[in-house]
Amino acid sequence: MNKTPYLPEDATILKITPMTERETLFEIELENGNTLGHQPGQFVEVSVPGVGEAPISISSSPTKDGNSFELCVRAVGNVTNILHGLKEGDNIGIRGPYGTGFPVDELKGKDVLFIAGGLGIAPLRSFINYALDKRDEFANVKILYGCREPCELLYEEEIDGWKERDDIEYLETVDRCPEGVCWEGNIGVITTLIPGIDIDLENTYAVICGPPIMYKFVLMELDKKNIPDERIILSLERHMKCGLGKCGHCQINGSNAEYYVCQDGPVFNYADIKGFEEAL
Ligand SMILES: Cc1cc2nc3c(=O)[nH]c(=O)nc-3n(C[C@H](O)[C@H](O)[C@H](O)COP(=O)(O)OP(=O)(O)OC[C@H]3O[C@@H](n4cnc5c(N)ncnc54)[C@H](O)[C@@H]3O)c2cc1C
Ligand code: FES
Repeated sequence: MNKTPYLPEDATILKITPMTERETLFEIELENGNTLGHQPGQFVEVSVPGVGEAPISISSSPTKDGNSFELCVRAVGNVTNILHGLKEGDNIGIRGPYGTGFPVDELKGKDVLFIAGGLGIAPLRSFINYALDKRDEFANVKILYGCREPCELLYEEEIDGWKERDDIEYLETVDRCPEGVCWEGNIGVITTLIPGIDIDLENTYAVICGPPIMYKFVLMELDKKNIPDERIILSLERHMKCGLGKCGHCQINGSNAEYYVCQDGPVFNYADIKGFEEAL
């Protein structure tokens, strides 16, 4: 008999790495020893027995060595706060991977412009590291990453490695830098980085993930650069329950179509959701 899709797989927390005051990186392995088998951009439902479930993006690339995968979790509520109190070796439940991933095959041979705001770097990192591990399969790779303040930057050590590579371009910015904090990068919202970048209009895809407020302004800047809607890929966040297209919690409606973000997304082509007022 097939196992019900609502039953989580047992999993073990192998490693816990605090990243900022609110975000922690969890390295997780399924107890059955299988790899997760995900695509960059997909998510899992993480469960803590007796507390509940939360959808969390898979932050590691499928090209990573070993069977484990990584989740970057911000402590905001019931499940995520309890997760932050767990220890290495503790057990959690995992359902998934769910949702559409980034269209990595469609983007092969293309220039890819990654634009990450805040925690949006978590799902994008999966695709970025995929592209870096398979560097010759993609043309120019540019990464723009912005946070509110320097202390909120995630994956700092790894990003130091990105900065040293001469086969990608990496630019970062913070909205503001408190007095006394050392910061040599740009100050300003992420859209301030876009006018200065060179874009090959025939070949560039933009891949965006960030807080809802960011999309409107980033899309306006990309429009000024004349990037067609069809070559803008974005990942949406909605409140979810089942993660499987059954409960309707994550539904977004357009004038003549509807999508379940958990199943039809979270990754969408902008051209497909442009008319959906609820989407952005
Ligand atoms: C596809 C996807 C990927 C995600 N990836 C990540 C990730 O990589 N890392 C990460 O940290 N988070 C991620 N999230 C966000 C995460 O799932 C939410 O923050 C989730 O609510 C946390 O669960 P919780 O039980 O800890 O918080 P909750 O107890 O659910 O509370 C979280 C916040 O949401 C509010 N809230 C709860 N339910 C509702 C509701 N029905 N309507 C309005 N407000 C509500 C609460 O008041 C609180 O402010 C992702 C979400 C989606 C959909
Ligand atoms: S979360 Fe249930 S339909 Fe999307």
